[in-house]
Amino acid sequence: MNPGLHIVILAAGKGTRMRSALPKVLQPLGGRPMLAHVLERARTLSPATITVVVGHQAERVRAAVGAEDLRFVEQVEQKGTGHAVSLALNGQEFSGRVLVLYGDVPLIPLQDLEACLQGEADLVVLGAEVPDPRGYGRLVEHPPGHLERIVEERDADAAQQRIRRINTGILCAPAADLQRWLAAGETEAARRAGEWYLTDVVATARTEGRPVALVMSARPEAVLGVNDRLQLVGQERLYQREQADRCLRDGLALADPARFDLRGELKFGEDCFVDINVVFQGSVRLGDRVHIGPGCELRDVVVEDDACIHAYSVLESSVLGPGCEVGPFARLRPGARLDAGAKVGNFVEMKNSTLGPGAKASHLTYLGDAEVGPRANIGAGTITCNYDGAHKHRTRIGADAFIGSNSSLVAPVTVGDGATIGAGTVLTRDAPPDALTLARAPQQTLTDWERPRKVPKAGGDSGDPQR
Ligand code: UD1
Ligand code: MG
Repeated sequence: MNPGLHIVILAAGKGTRMRSALPKVLQPLGGRPMLAHVLERARTLSPATITVVVGHQAERVRAAVGAEDLRFVEQVEQKGTGHAVSLALNGQEFSGRVLVLYGDVPLIPLQDLEACLQGEADLVVLGAEVPDPRGYGRLVEHPPGHLERIVEERDADAAQQRIRRINTGILCAPAADLQRWLAAGETEAARRAGEWYLTDVVATARTEGRPVALVMSARPEAVLGVNDRLQLVGQERLYQREQADRCLRDGLALADPARFDLRGELKFGEDCFVDINVVFQGSVRLGDRVHIGPGCELRDVVVEDDACIHAYSVLESSVLGPGCEVGPFARLRPGARLDAGAKVGNFVEMKNSTLGPGAKASHLTYLGDAEVGPRANIGAGTITCNYDGAHKHRTRIGADAFIGSNSSLVAPVTVGDGATIGAGTVLTRDAPPDALTLARAPQQTLTDWERPRKVPKAGGDSGDPQR
């Protein structure tokens, strides 16, 4: 633990520019709230305390990220970043330094934070040089390299607007000093009848003759605050690209790192291949030599060695055994399990069902609440009728069974080992093993039947459809 370090995270703002019912700091980035990314970094620094300032939809923010190691302070009225930090420090006897992080600067590199904490100076500000400084506070240096003050964009004159060195918002200062400097900022804000800026502490510290250090970010693109959806998608792409690069370095073959989305955790063995536009969510584990075709979505899935998921398949909370094949266009809903070498083909949906080793459902099938035995073959168009409108029932299909195409298996029902079900059967009673069972109207041919014909109207339409 770092006993001399206290972290304050600002997360009270509404994020008006997002135009969203969701508070800004809960907007997802890589499938997790922006604030969760900031907390992850904060925890890596092992501070003595972490205080999160919440305000807009405080309860919702607290519920989303709440944990034992966090202290929440409510800022009922958002009077500015200075006010927010001041509330976090009020009544606290913090000894040592305070590091202020922003809930809307989610990808802040650890290396930048470490650089800020290394400085000997009393006040350390993290800046960044960017090609487009619009929307951010500008660093006014005098002489160059010596931070004099920070000017918010709305207060900047034309010359200051041209400054491309911006304030990331992140700063570090001794707790007692910061409290005093903030108080001066409150007076200034009241005088201006405006927002209480955290950034005013720079000018105040300088007036006291205290040193102010400026640390410039090593990765300016990663410290940009997110205020609107354009900036959010910018950070999302940056994050996804970082993850794709990491996967590539760790030996995952990606068809295109720019068309890869990981919104959770992905583990993989050797020689796995992921085609374009695959989305991974939750926790996904791939064995060795797994192949995933384009456009697939996998959420909380385990895929064992040599399995292949063909294009445009959607899998959730499912397990694929070794050598399985799924898709194209398959949907595996929660509780689908395929044992070794099983196969699910196009337009097949499975839910809470298992396919034994080598079993196949190759086309157009619904398997719900079903257990299919080893090597069984499920014909095209087979439906397990598992729901009677009130309850779910199970279907059991034995080993080596053969279900003819377009059969409806009305659950609860059991098909014995080695049984054959004739095509088009509506099975309502159990089918015994090793026999043919079929339930369909017998076929007949009527040779004396005549096709009806229209009688032609006098002088009008002949009524002949072939005309
Ligand atoms: C702020 C900085 C600006 C910097 C930019 C970097 C100030 C005055 N300006 O501007 O110099 O370039 O960040 O991204 O600090 N918040 C509260 N309580 C409040 C107001 C804000 O908790 O009363 C939180 C917000 O939820 C957000 C963060 O503080 O997470 C920053 O607030 P925001 O309104 O986005 O400030 P910027 O205009 O981006
Ligand atoms: Mg901001």
